[in-house]
Amino acid sequence: MINDEIIFEVENLEFSYPDSGNILDKLNFAVHSGEALSILGANGCGKSTLLKIFSGLLSPTAGNFKAFGKSISSQMLQEDDFAMNYHQQIGFIFQDSDVQLFCNNVTEELAFGLLQLDYSITEIKQRIAEIAKLVNIEHLLDKSPYKLSGGEKKKVAIAAVLLLNPRVLILDEPTNALDPKTQRWLVGLLQQLHQAGKTLIITTHNLNLVSELSTRGILFNEQHQIVADAPIKQLLQQQDLLREVNLI
Ligand SMILES: Nc1ncnc2c1ncn2[C@@H]1O[C@H](COP(=O)(O)OP(=O)(O)OP(=O)(O)O)[C@@H](O)[C@H]1O
Ligand SMILES: [Mg+2]
Repeated sequence: MINDEIIFEVENLEFSYPDSGNILDKLNFAVHSGEALSILGANGCGKSTLLKIFSGLLSPTAGNFKAFGKSISSQMLQEDDFAMNYHQQIGFIFQDSDVQLFCNNVTEELAFGLLQLDYSITEIKQRIAEIAKLVNIEHLLDKSPYKLSGGEKKKVAIAAVLLLNPRVLILDEPTNALDPKTQRWLVGLLQQLHQAGKTLIITTHNLNLVSELSTRGILFNEQHQIVADAPIKQLLQQQDLLREVNLI
């Protein structure tokens, strides 16, 4: 159910780290509400950096970044109320789950965001129970996040984000560290969320799963530029281009 509402829009967007050249080079595109978009490209082309800009964790060094129709400045993201609202609407699941998990046990981890939003304890307990069931982590609730396997950590990170019921889900390499059965389960969950109207933006190196996870693909070359923006099935057929950008 793609509709006219634009969630993100980038105009001549550029980004460089203090000690790097351009990691994102003059990007122009828009993401509409209800889309399932994948960002594809070789290691180091800038995918995670772009997702961090969408998530409000980094700001572009040049060009314009709009979310929900508004230009977003780094100053706005430093205002507590604005940032809290922004992060509630846009859920980000990091490539590395370790940077996302910091509490003593999984229940606390899951409760963290809801406590920030002033939910009552009764409601928090109820929502955690529901999400733990949906994501299959009921048996992990009392464990320390540090003692979980990579795949278990990923599930907890996903649950923590889903609890806040964001409109937009941004997932950086979501199937990394997952065994084939858990990958299938995650693909099913993401398809369900997409059908329920969520906007999905993912990165993945798993070209076998990408057409199940997205309907549109944006392809980067190793010079940090967009070289294709097309329906995903069409993009995957461009074998020469995929070879050129070092994806196959
Ligand atoms: N904090 C940082 N400071 C300086 N350079 C960085 C920083 N984070 C990333 N980079 C550099 O920016 C480039 C793009 O990194 P990014 O993580 O966005 O790539 P990616 O496309 O997500 O790669 P991968 O497929 O390996 O996850 C890389 O060359 C990386 O070394
Ligand atoms: Mg990355």
